[in-house]
Amino acid sequence: MRIAIVGCGFVADFYLKTLPLHPALELVGVMDRDADRAARFAAYYSVPTYRTMDDLLADPRVQMVVNLTNPRSHYEVSKACLEAGKHVYTEKPMAMSFSNAQALELLAAQRGLYIASAPSRHLGETAQTLWKALREKAIGTVRLAYAELDDGLVHRMPYKTWVSQSGAPWPYKDEFEIGCILEHAGYLVSWLLMFFGPAQTVTAFSSCLIPDKATDVPVTVEAPDFSVACIKFASGPVARLTCSIIAPADHSLRIFGDDGVLSTDDCWLARSPVYIKRRLRIGGKTFMAPWKKRLPLVRMPNAQTRHHGLKKVDFCLGVAELAAAIEEQRPCRLSSSFCVHVNEIVLAIHNALETGSPYKITSSFEPIDPMPWATGWVQ
Ligand SMILES: NC(=O)c1ccc[n+]([C@@H]2O[C@H](COP(=O)([O-])OP(=O)(O)OC[C@H]3O[C@@H](n4cnc5c(N)ncnc54)[C@H](O)[C@@H]3O)[C@@H](O)[C@H]2O)c1
Repeated sequence: MRIAIVGCGFVADFYLKTLPLHPALELVGVMDRDADRAARFAAYYSVPTYRTMDDLLADPRVQMVVNLTNPRSHYEVSKACLEAGKHVYTEKPMAMSFSNAQALELLAAQRGLYIASAPSRHLGETAQTLWKALREKAIGTVRLAYAELDDGLVHRMPYKTWVSQSGAPWPYKDEFEIGCILEHAGYLVSWLLMFFGPAQTVTAFSSCLIPDKATDVPVTVEAPDFSVACIKFASGPVARLTCSIIAPADHSLRIFGDDGVLSTDDCWLARSPVYIKRRLRIGGKTFMAPWKKRLPLVRMPNAQTRHHGLKKVDFCLGVAELAAAIEEQRPCRLSSSFCVHVNEIVLAIHNALETGSPYKITSSFEPIDPMPWATGWVQ
């Protein structure tokens, strides 16, 4: 499948890093509205550039466009590509509004084209191992999942030193304005949807707890930097998903069933180990085992993956799945309806900042004094 990339920024390097793992994907050219950036990226990777979007879309060799632009450009770029008869793989979020995501799905269907959206990490070994264990009822009936996507106080980190391999700076202004919910929640929402099927309701709270991120360039949109959401799945389970750029980094997932707990410590790591804790039955009593056992992953990395580094996350996984689905004319595991569903849930959590209706408390109380002996430190 011949692909072209639009958007040669920070994330584009991640895609180029694992592209060689997918010989079925042939990169024919790249484009960025920032000509300097396109030139630097193209020189670094020795790939041709297109001067304009029209040039790229007019190239009959391009079958699929990989849209790695900033979230606020996703809709217009994906739409233009579909209108030009190209399949689309877009970075997340698929669109900044649910109606735009639906419009892209409809447009693709009308044109007989495929559109899929990142994230695709649920197609990786860790999520697939968890899913297999769930399908085999390793922890019995699942009732609840706790999913965390906290990333620490990012605005206090030395983010100005974060530069991609080809020299693109981490786009902090855009990241803070889009907000960590739209940027990150989709990672675990997609895992949960794959495990439990479609969601029925989302009850969410989101808030901007640090409006002034003390950036040198003013941030003009106050996006939420904290959210907590309860997602109810039609199949029964409920998941509590927390997202922030305030609490220390925690990308863990725990799934609670009647017979045990499945977990992984970091959904962002490639091949993060999967653990199971079983409920034991001894002498007519049941209790949770104090130890956890590591489950074997469903697939071991092959020699090529090993060569590219075991820890490396394969950003091309979703592109490769989409390309294979197109070649084989089969449904894509990142179907447009799946991606639109992810987008709807993530937007519901993000938009809770405005649409959420918190119960306003009417009572209050005076501050309580500490105990008299609790005002100093024991030396
Ligand atoms: N930064 C990360 O660590 C990271 C990780 C995973 C996913 N992502 C996602 O990847 C996407 C890109 O993020 P990034 O960090 O690379 O941003 P970036 O700002 O570094 O790069 C985006 C590039 O797209 C270009 N662009 C924007 N609109 C365009 C248009 N209409 N036509 C042509 N070029 C256009 C910009 O000039 C820029 O060079 C976002 O959706 C983001 O959520 C980012």
